[in-house]
Amino acid sequence: MGMQIAPSILSADFANLESEIVKVDTADWLHVDVMDGHFVPNLTLGLPVVERIAEVSPMPIDAHLMIENPDHWAPRYAEAGAASVTFHYEAAKDPRAIARDLRRLGARASVALKPGTPVDVILDDLVEFDMVLVMTVEPGFGGQAFMPDMMSKVSTLRHASDAADRHLWIQTDGGIARDTIETVARAGGDVFVAGSAVYGAADPAAEVNALRALAAAARA
Ligand code: DX5
Ligand code: ZN
Repeated sequence: MGMQIAPSILSADFANLESEIVKVDTADWLHVDVMDGHFVPNLTLGLPVVERIAEVSPMPIDAHLMIENPDHWAPRYAEAGAASVTFHYEAAKDPRAIARDLRRLGARASVALKPGTPVDVILDDLVEFDMVLVMTVEPGFGGQAFMPDMMSKVSTLRHASDAADRHLWIQTDGGIARDTIETVARAGGDVFVAGSAVYGAADPAAEVNALRALAAAARA
């Protein structure tokens, strides 16, 4: 896989979700932010909405769970039709067991790290995961400023993945736009979530392609 773009519907018009989803059909994934008002101080949507989104979306669903008790809930999102499920390390009792449940259900297993969580906590367990999400903002809200300090986590993960002779997908989420995506691509990131940059553009589908092209050129 090359560089992949996952627009976040957090910046879409929630009253017109289906047409908003179709607007970004040049994307590789559709990023769906699930927030519970406890793990993060914001509340979005849950299982029944994800289930319907998965039915109408032309792109596979990349569910980002910012919720407590992912040990119970993460597999439910795989069952609801998410092709990739990301849970937060900080909320998980047994990250390896969650990853195994997700894979058993046929989903890609992914773990997210908040900005304050060091990458060391998962380095010994990378084989359990298909993707690691390095948050480049504090989770909870769209439209925040990108944190360049997180790039050392991205490069550490890329080197660890290369050393293990496998290709771990490394996702970044928060403040990804034309002026930040090249920095991430150079550090080793390859899956990019973008909310306000895509939905704030005059032509969201074209913006997805522009972001992907910038990332690909920066990596090459
Ligand atoms: C924030 C969410 C992001 C958010 C990104 O907690 O996880 O997916 O939508 O928004 P932007 O791209 O605007 O920073
Ligand atoms: Zn997200």
